[in-house]
Amino acid sequence: MIVTTKQLYNVAYGKFAVGAYNVNNMEQILGLFRGNMQSRSPFIIQISKGARKYADKRMLEALIRTADQMFPEAIFAVHLDHGDEATCYDCIDSRFYSSVMIDASHEPFEENVAITKRVVDRAHAKGISVEAELGMLGGVEEDIKVDEKHACLTNPEEAVEFVSQTGCDSLAAAIGTSHGAYKFKGRQGLHFDVIAEIQKRIPGTPIVMHGSSSVPKEEVERINAAAGKLDPSARGVDENEYLPAARLGVTKVNIDTDGRLVWTRVHREFFRDHPEQFDFRAPGKVFVEEYANFIAHKNEKLGSANQLEAVRASL
Ligand code: G3H
Ligand code: 13P
Ligand code: ZN
Repeated sequence: MIVTTKQLYNVAYGKFAVGAYNVNNMEQILGLFRGNMQSRSPFIIQISKGARKYADKRMLEALIRTADQMFPEAIFAVHLDHGDEATCYDCIDSRFYSSVMIDASHEPFEENVAITKRVVDRAHAKGISVEAELGMLGGVEEDIKVDEKHACLTNPEEAVEFVSQTGCDSLAAAIGTSHGAYKFKGRQGLHFDVIAEIQKRIPGTPIVMHGSSSVPKEEVERINAAAGKLDPSARGVDENEYLPAARLGVTKVNIDTDGRLVWTRVHREFFRDHPEQFDFRAPGKVFVEEYANFIAHKNEKLGSANQLEAVRASL
């Protein structure tokens, strides 16, 4: 059943975080639904502009609608990840997405407010939730590159102004993370002081954490042992920081890179160990199972495991 992110946040806020997982293909969607059913978790499926281009937005919609029929117990939101204004409108008008992210964080504050407000007005008129971003995440966001040196954390004072002027439903805040596999140089960890300040100033507004992959060391080592060439210094968010952050209002946790690492490890190891194989269904089956286990594990760490019935009861 497709619900809005707001409906999920109503139950989760301050208690646990909802996993927001990027999808690009059939195997990922199948594993995602299986994993969430395994852990009895509500979840958010997110689709980036890149995914809509890669698989065709109609293909992804058809896959997700089919999965919804195959897993009638599932409760999830369908969310546009890092949308520009035009893509937000396309999703709002599609009658499929229940939530969009407008990412105008690269614009000056006033322009970010103006763009976000236009999207909020149009989305709310159709009952769709809006996530907006303030502050700059380091690393690579879609096609926007932010120099790590200039990556700046969200200013809690500005967050108050931004949320009240735009009416957005949730706030993607820069709290020390970045996208991709190479998040931290030197000190590793979330800026809990900034999260706490933001929550104090906008209590009740869910905070979204982008760049939340944990980049497990073991995963990187296994990929490299199977002829991968990832920089062994790759590092992500400590999974044990998800729940403390959730208690401070971080209610949506975005995970993409870790899923890509599972895909890469499974396929590299499979073809290393079975060089005679060329049927893609064989590693595909392994991947779906491994991805489902990965999702169930993440949900345990996020605290969303066994929250499905609480969400159902709230609807
Ligand atoms: O934040 C970006 C997500 O990881 C999506 O990545 O644009 O390569 O699909 P993508
Ligand atoms: P990761 O690169 O840490 O998985 O972050 C994904 C993300 O924030 C998608 O919006
Ligand atoms: Zn992101």
